[in-house]
Amino acid sequence: MVKSYPAVSEEYLKAVDKAKRKLRGLIAEKNCAPLMLRLAWHSAGTFDVATKTGGPFGTMKNPSEQAHGANAGLDIAIRLLEPIKEQFPILSYADFYQLAGVVAVEVTGGPDVPFHPGREDKPEPPPEGRLPDATQGSDHLRQVFATQMGLSDQDIVALSGGHTLGRCHKDRSGFEGAWTSNPLIFDNSYFKELLSGEKEGLLQLPSDKALLSDPSFRPLVDKYAADEDAFFADYAEAHLKLSELGFAEA
Ligand code: HEM
Repeated sequence: MVKSYPAVSEEYLKAVDKAKRKLRGLIAEKNCAPLMLRLAWHSAGTFDVATKTGGPFGTMKNPSEQAHGANAGLDIAIRLLEPIKEQFPILSYADFYQLAGVVAVEVTGGPDVPFHPGREDKPEPPPEGRLPDATQGSDHLRQVFATQMGLSDQDIVALSGGHTLGRCHKDRSGFEGAWTSNPLIFDNSYFKELLSGEKEGLLQLPSDKALLSDPSFRPLVDKYAADEDAFFADYAEAHLKLSELGFAEA
């Protein structure tokens, strides 16, 4: 996708830089990188390429979108972010939530994901039901990521590596447990754990395990488990695409 980024003012760029510093502080203080990454992803992952609706356009600030089943717990992220957002009224929520996702990856040791400002806030949340269902397999992942969002097989596997951060909560998704033994560090351990099989105390969702059995996904799991640099490079590219779905299309 060729991009044509909008011009933003000097003042806006300064606010982005300053907000980024505040986000680093908040995330370090609250250990909330995983929740911030999930917020950014659930904000963007509703994009529908056919109708150009949904996507990373700030609609998650709307309580009706926070109330979607897939978003359980994200109201906490919104609440944590609001005191910082109030300091930067010039920023769109759209940019701010995506910035939080980029900073979450950065401060936990992950790759630098490029950030381009200028997203505008949209008034209407997308319809419920566009985010992936953890109980399903490869066909469903392709339906959501490829057909709906317009991303590739490589993006699906690289982005699934986001589960190197954080954990599942029984009261949010019905699942319980972390994918790795270091859920506040962004590294390639998600792929290593996936290959080493189920382990006491750790979790693999059906949608994670689907990456092992699919002939197109599996070689990428093997590659990312063996080569963290390759994972970081592909992750950064995929996260950038995700964060800009429907934004700055030339
Ligand atoms: C491939 C399809 C995906 C499915 C089915 C899925 C499903 C889930 C589920 C069920 C949870 C647990 C929520 C909870 O109980 O708190 C979760 C958490 C999480 N997901 Fe995903 N996810 C997917 C893709 C992604 C992507 C693309 C990213 C980011 C690049 C991501 C990042 C996260 C993070 C960081 C958490 C942990 C949140 C926390 O610790 O509070 N997920 N995901």
